[in-house]
Amino acid sequence: MATPQHPFAIKEPWTADLVQKRIQELGEWFHNMNLGGVETAPTHFLGNYPAVKWNHFSSAIPDDLRGKTVLDIGCNAGFYALEMKRRGADRVLGIDSSDHYLEQARFAADVTGLEIELANISVYEVKQLGEKFDLVLFLGVLYHLRYPLLALDLLRRHVVRDMLVVQSMLRGSCDVEPVEPDYPISETGVFEHPTFPQMYFVEKKYSHDPTNWWIPNRAGLEAMLRSAGFEIVAHPEPEVFVARISQQRASEIGDERIDVRRVIRGRE
Ligand SMILES: C[S@@+](CC[C@H](N)C(=O)[O-])C[C@H]1O[C@@H](n2cnc3c(N)ncnc32)[C@H](O)[C@@H]1O
Repeated sequence: MATPQHPFAIKEPWTADLVQKRIQELGEWFHNMNLGGVETAPTHFLGNYPAVKWNHFSSAIPDDLRGKTVLDIGCNAGFYALEMKRRGADRVLGIDSSDHYLEQARFAADVTGLEIELANISVYEVKQLGEKFDLVLFLGVLYHLRYPLLALDLLRRHVVRDMLVVQSMLRGSCDVEPVEPDYPISETGVFEHPTFPQMYFVEKKYSHDPTNWWIPNRAGLEAMLRSAGFEIVAHPEPEVFVARISQQRASEIGDERIDVRRVIRGRE
């Protein structure tokens, strides 16, 4: 099926010993990367993560990214950003709201000699980038947000030129059924149905993590993507969706609808 993850070569003056020492100095790692034979998170609670995940959907992304620009939102220590550069992308920008993870990503880029740009910018601030990217990765971030639909709206409006790849934790039903365009107020049963689009709100913690806020079921994530102006073109792995801008939906929505000031004032 997909290409297995292969180690990143390291460049001089880095040696395996120096890499090992610096990995430890950089604290807890979420991304396990093999940097010249040294792993950054060999005891990861999800196994060899995210390589195991990547192996399931890497074939859904073009092998050859030459001539393309890539934005990796919530890039963490840079696993995916570096993979995109390894596929030849002209330019890869990784953004994250954590300086801790960005420091790890800077180190990984330095050690591998792969040139990626990194910046501490939140998904809510993407407008300030002032440009659209051919490929936008939005992996493992949606459920960490208090305002996930706003984030999707902002991505569609400001940074996605063509392809958006989304990965989210999903809970509840994996089945999707058609929904009616409207329901009378007397219809209450539909909300009991497990396939109706849903988001589970986590007031306290899930998996010991207080930043897990909203966890959709599959129908919920698909519906949010459509509502934000995307059409889903591939579903290579249970949690991963490849989407493209839906021209029809985009013109229905109109750009004004997701002006943040209007979002805060109105029902959107
Ligand atoms: C579960 S990790 C996913 C990392 C990586 N994208 C992946 O799929 O392996 C979530 C990442 O999103 C970042 N993050 C959380 N909230 C964010 C926000 N508002 N804007 C940008 N990054 C954010 C975290 O710092 C963390 O690096």
